[in-house]
Parts: sequence; C-alpha cells; structure tokens
Amino acid sequence: MMLNVPGHRELRKIVVLNPKGGSGKTTLAINLAGYLASRQRPVALMDCDPQGSSTRWLEKRPSHYPAIHGIVAYTTSMVTTRSWQLRVPHDIRYLVIDTPAAVPAQELVDFTRGAHAILVPVLPSNIDVHAVSRLVAHLLLTAKVSRRMGRLGVIANRVRENTLAYRKLMLFLDCLSIPVVGVLRDSQNYVRSAEEGLSIHEMVPSRVTKDLTRWQPLIGWLEQKLETSLTARDLHHPILQPLPGPVVPFRKARIKP
Ligand SMILES: Nc1ncnc2c1ncn2[C@@H]1O[C@H](COP(=O)(O)OP(=O)(O)O)[C@@H](O)[C@H]1O
Ligand SMILES: [Mg+2]
Repeated sequence: MMLNVPGHRELRKIVVLNPKGGSGKTTLAINLAGYLASRQRPVALMDCDPQGSSTRWLEKRPSHYPAIHGIVAYTTSMVTTRSWQLRVPHDIRYLVIDTPAAVPAQELVDFTRGAHAILVPVLPSNIDVHAVSRLVAHLLLTAKVSRRMGRLGVIANRVRENTLAYRKLMLFLDCLSIPVVGVLRDSQNYVRSAEEGLSIHEMVPSRVTKDLTRWQPLIGWLEQKLETSLTARDLHHPILQPLPGPVVPFRKARIKP
C-alpha cells in the first residue's frame, strides 16, 4: 500500500507503529487523536489497518465532542483515486496514523517519511520486546530514522509496576538505547473510553487521574517534536538496504589463526 499522504506544509504527522498485533497501536492512536481534538487542534485519524478498529472508534464518537476527521486508507476504492481517498482537508493541522501489524520494509519508509513523531507501543513481554527491537533496527537502518533526530519514541504499554516483566522491559530498552517517552498503565479506562468513542483525555478527570498523570511526559515529548521543524533528513528518500536479522546478544567473533 503506497502511502503518499497528500498533505500540506503545516501538517504534522504522528505515526504509530509496531509489528505485533495487540501492542496498543490503535489505543495509542485514538488517544493521541482524542488528546489533540480535546485541545481544539484540527486533527485527522488515518486508519491503515484492514481490521478498521480506529474507524469503528470514530463511528462511535458522540457528535457533541470535538470532531476528528477520519481517513480510511486500508481499502482501495474503485470510484475515487488513491490521492483523493487519502486527501487531508486543508484546515487539518495534525494527522495521526494507525498502522497494521507487520508493515513491509518499503512501507515503513512511506509511513515514516516526513513524520514529526514515530511512536512505538510495546508490551512488557519477551516476544514483544524482541519484535520491537527488530522494528527499531529496521527503522534506523532501512528507513534511516536517525536516533539523533529523536523523532522516535517507545511507549511501554499496559504496564504493571513492580513486576519483573516491567523491570526487564525497561532494562532491555535501556540497553538498546531506545528512548522510552511514556509508560502507560494497564487500565480498564482505555477499554471503557474506547467503547464510548472517547479518549481518556475526554473522560471525567477524577476517574482517570492516574492515567492522565502517565500521559504528561508523553505529551511533553510529543508537543516538543510537533514544534520542531522537519529537516531534509526527515524527508529523505532512502535507498533500501537488506533487512537486518533479529537482535541477538553480542558474541565475540572467533578469529581463525
Ligand atoms: N494500556 C492499556 N490498558 C488496558 N488495555 C489496553 C491498553 N492498551 C491496549 N489495551 C487493550 O488491548 C487490546 C489490543 O490493543 P490495540 O490498541 O487494539 O492493539 P493493536 O492496535 O496494536 O492491535 C485492546 O482490547 C485494547 O483495549
Ligand atoms: Mg490496531
């Protein structure tokens, strides 16, 4: 699926990626869109996953809440052109992109090019940690998302503190020098708000205080990225390289005498 989003100069793109299903991509995308909408920012939510979860969330959204423009990118229409289907209205300033699991390498480039922020939610489990380390390697090598540019942020999702799984996750991410920009609780508030077509930022604050507190560092990081102008690096057209293998522990090479 080619994703040349017909955007405009002032459009800020936030992409949510993770090769694994169930890591929280849709949850993060809808809460980001809901956050921006609740702050009166003109926002669109692009659903690239054939499962259509964020589109269904938008359909549930009560009409008296700030509008979020929906873009369904996972179907190909017979009656309209692709660029018409993906068009972002001129008054929209923020675009949140919800992606499917297992995005092929070329699409990783398309998705991340020109993004102000690339967010990767990861669950505290061994399988998820390995999937995410492989994704980050792809992003850095194939999509040339430079670590220095700092547009990439990992979100530890569904965290239960004081658990071994959480400590292992943080340790592993730290070893790989992957920036963790947010830690979100395992909380039914995400499930309940999503059922109502809302984000946790739009719930009665007293019911979601702990979760809102957890969003503060993430929001701080995001707002800063949204303010940082894109450079040529962010808009590059990279040459595709062979994909790296999974990240394996370092072993000393044996040198033959
Ligand atoms: N922080 C969280 N706390 C509780 N449930 C969560 C949290 N994040 C995601 N979930 C739930 O986990 C399931 C998978 O999340 P989802 O966002 O759909 O993942 P993905 O889009 O990566 O497949 C959903 O039922 C969602 O409500
Ligand atoms: Mg999803």
